[in-house]
Amino acid sequence: MTVSRKRTAVLISGRGSNMLSLIEAAKDPAYPAEIVLVVSNRPDAGGIARAESFGIPARLLDHKTYGRDREAFERELDAMLVAEGIELVVLAGFMRLMTPWFVERWNGQMINIHPALLPSFKGLHTHERALEAGVRLHGATVHFVSPGMDEGAIIAQGAVPVLSGDTPEALGARVLTVEHQIYPQALALVASGQVQLEDGKAVCRAAAEDAEGRLTAPRW
Ligand code: GRF
Repeated sequence: MTVSRKRTAVLISGRGSNMLSLIEAAKDPAYPAEIVLVVSNRPDAGGIARAESFGIPARLLDHKTYGRDREAFERELDAMLVAEGIELVVLAGFMRLMTPWFVERWNGQMINIHPALLPSFKGLHTHERALEAGVRLHGATVHFVSPGMDEGAIIAQGAVPVLSGDTPEALGARVLTVEHQIYPQALALVASGQVQLEDGKAVCRAAAEDAEGRLTAPRW
């Protein structure tokens, strides 16, 4: 059976390990998304070379070129995405807040991964803050992007235990392993239409949930 694969761009600012997990998943021709473009807003992002080593075109769009004009940067980015026929935008360690214009423009078609169990620990330094708060469970969340930072509708979450003696680095490494599992699953759910943004909520088609309401990864 031929599947129509959603043309997907991954936006990065750094090493791009989540980007790689998506590229790996999308190697399977049955995966419902195809990674056709990587864009970095930082020239020193290690992910640029990593994407190219997989034959994925990687472009640099340095936000510093645009000074304080966020919308000029985003209009250029939008033009780049449109020129490539992009249908889904995936933020993977993209360290730049989008304006309401860009978020609205890609509403329901743009997702992000955050290294915490939202709505706890929005923002930066999540692992340090989780240890400071003394939580027993920590994890990662994939969500649709909305104008408020780390506030969009939740698509998938993965939890890890917080162990005694954890450092932010050890905890962060445990969370990253979960990120690499849930991001390809969440993108598959969105790309296949099994999860959609409706009235500010991520709504699952019945087939995407098991009897206990847990998300099941689509078959690809
Ligand atoms: C990840 O922890 C992600 O959750 C956060 O930034 C980090 C990016 O890591 N938004 P990588 O570039 O994907 O390795």
